[in-house]
Amino acid sequence: MSEQNPIPSFHVDRVHDTDNELITRVLDLQAEVAGVVRMREWVRDALAVREGDTALDIGSGTGSEVLALARLVGGTGRAVGVDPNPAMLALARERAREFTEAPVDFIEGSAYALPLPDADIDVIRCERVYQHLDDPAQATAEIARVLRPGGRVALIDSDWSTAITHPGDPELIERLHQQMQSASPNRTSGRRLRGLLHSAGLVIDDIGSEALVWEPESIMPMYTAGTERVVAAGLLTEAQREQLLGEMSRGIERGDYHFSVTMFAVVAHKP
Ligand SMILES: C[S@@+](CC[C@H](N)C(=O)[O-])C[C@H]1O[C@@H](n2cnc3c(N)ncnc32)[C@H](O)[C@@H]1O
Repeated sequence: MSEQNPIPSFHVDRVHDTDNELITRVLDLQAEVAGVVRMREWVRDALAVREGDTALDIGSGTGSEVLALARLVGGTGRAVGVDPNPAMLALARERAREFTEAPVDFIEGSAYALPLPDADIDVIRCERVYQHLDDPAQATAEIARVLRPGGRVALIDSDWSTAITHPGDPELIERLHQQMQSASPNRTSGRRLRGLLHSAGLVIDDIGSEALVWEPESIMPMYTAGTERVVAAGLLTEAQREQLLGEMSRGIERGDYHFSVTMFAVVAHKP
């Protein structure tokens, strides 16, 4: 990870130049957040994953949801994860090594050109990936291509305009939010999922939401790095950075804090 860019990136162009250990830690912590657990359960139910299905997770990261899909499709089905990051794929394969309940594959590839034939997949999920995409319409066209008629898809993503950081001076927090999200090409992804699926010819079946609520130990390292970037970008002075981090720390000490972003999930099918 370069000193100029201390926040790890999930962008496809940065897969060979990011802090994979930190990414893994963040994804593992997020997988335990109650809102993420609830959202994933809701999505699995809404997708009605069946035994014998071929199920795909696009941007599969650590592979945890590929294994969850594999448990549902069973020995007569197949679960596939696609991700462009070789380090994430290696980790996911290692974690799946002892898994025997269903065939599991992790394939290197991108949402823009899925390494799969047309009409091959029964169920697709794609979680917190679209915010990192420059061309979400192309990714959605690929989903429509590989889904078989009647196949189901769930897109899950945050909408960063819903981020809440409390306590702290609201104007300084706004500058921090803007800068921390400036690396994301698609920061208001959550509100666009429905339109993308509709434009790709898919039929919307359901929409749900949950907040990703962080505890201080997972968010404060991001804020510490993020505020350094804000100072480097000239959007905060060092004194304002110290003020903001101090306000947050004092809030944490007295138990008066809230750090969250809202995630949305849209479920659709191919007619
Ligand atoms: C924030 S992580 C989410 C991982 C996983 N879906 C989860 O919810 O834990 C974003 C993932 O998207 C992947 N990704 C980034 N660009 C992608 C692309 N063009 N196609 C497919 N996956 C991509 C990253 O490598 C990373 O694994």
